[in-house]
Amino acid sequence: MEHAKWENVTYHAMVVSEEEGAFVRSVETLSVKDLPPGDVLIRVGFSSLNWKDCLSAMGNPGVTRRYPHTPGIDASGIVAACIDGGFQKGDKVIVTGYDLGMNTAGGFAEYIRVPAGWVVKLPDGLTRKEAMMLGTAGFTAGLSIKRLLDHGVAPGSGTVLVTGATGGVGSLAVGILKKLGFTVAAVSGRDERGEYLASIGVDQVVPLAEAVDSRGKALGGKLWAGVVDAVGGDVLETAIKNTVNRGVVTCCGNVRSDDLSFSIYPFILRGVSLCGIDSATCPMEERQFVWKQLADAWKPDILELVVESLNGLDELSIQIDRMVRGERTGRSIVHFP
Ligand SMILES: NC(=O)c1ccc[n+]([C@@H]2O[C@H](COP(=O)([O-])OP(=O)(O)OC[C@H]3O[C@@H](n4cnc5c(N)ncnc54)[C@H](OP(=O)(O)O)[C@@H]3O)[C@@H](O)[C@H]2O)c1
Repeated sequence: MEHAKWENVTYHAMVVSEEEGAFVRSVETLSVKDLPPGDVLIRVGFSSLNWKDCLSAMGNPGVTRRYPHTPGIDASGIVAACIDGGFQKGDKVIVTGYDLGMNTAGGFAEYIRVPAGWVVKLPDGLTRKEAMMLGTAGFTAGLSIKRLLDHGVAPGSGTVLVTGATGGVGSLAVGILKKLGFTVAAVSGRDERGEYLASIGVDQVVPLAEAVDSRGKALGGKLWAGVVDAVGGDVLETAIKNTVNRGVVTCCGNVRSDDLSFSIYPFILRGVSLCGIDSATCPMEERQFVWKQLADAWKPDILELVVESLNGLDELSIQIDRMVRGERTGRSIVHFP
């Protein structure tokens, strides 16, 4: 067995444990034999922090049911060993989504072992570091923008609204849209983040108070040709009401709310489309397509502005707490040398 010779190799990982009802984080030394079975053993070079990792680290049972557990829904690295699935030792690869970091030991570790069906070959034009600067957030932004393009929203169609724009998905959606030549408006709940939004290319900042309709009307102004929403709730409702005829709205996140309560008039009087985005279960063909675009024509020019590099797993733990408190902008990556 090609994996057998690796079983006693040790590695560092963040481990979240449940202690008397509280969820505590530590950096521990584990063995490859502790990893779940899988086709491909990967030496992780980079991982990145996403909202779902915070939920896993805080003990959210909708994300992770079994502890102790290593979060990390993203990893890029080099294949150490492969028993099935067509990968060779030394191949540079990306794994995002599926069950990684949920109930399968995740990317906040120097090794992961996963089914071959979860693994994407790193496309030409992207480094392992850039793949994690994008990570699930960039991939989700890419999927959302693919939906807009597939439904006919083009740079000349009008302004695209991005919500949660100072966060990971939102910032990278702005970056991709600007790379493609779109005019972009962005919602932010914090005035002080206007400078950041301008630096990543946002053309118009919409204060959160204006992004929530309080008049209770079924339809609003025809403001947006498309919307990339990462927050949900009344912000998403208002964005849908303010979308032009035949406009397209994508919905991927619920940091504000998972509730929707509004009339169907935007759909039946304006032909607005609402598209759900689920990056974790995205089929492999579409997954490979989006990563290829992200390595090429869609690759945001603003990666360095959006992403900070963290110094190891201890610093990552500090960033998890900051993300939960809503104190961060952009994204964070961690490097395992
Ligand atoms: N469906 C999928 O496949 C998928 C994939 C990735 C992420 N997601 C989801 O997408 C969402 C965003 O993820 P992320 O990684 O970008 O998170 P993030 O980096 O924490 O960004 C979230 C952003 O939302 C805004 N926000 C926070 N609380 C808000 C509130 N109460 N009302 C309005 N805006 C608020 C914040 O911007 P301001 O404070 O500046 O307004 C923040 O920058 C999460 O719900 C995540 O689970 C889904």
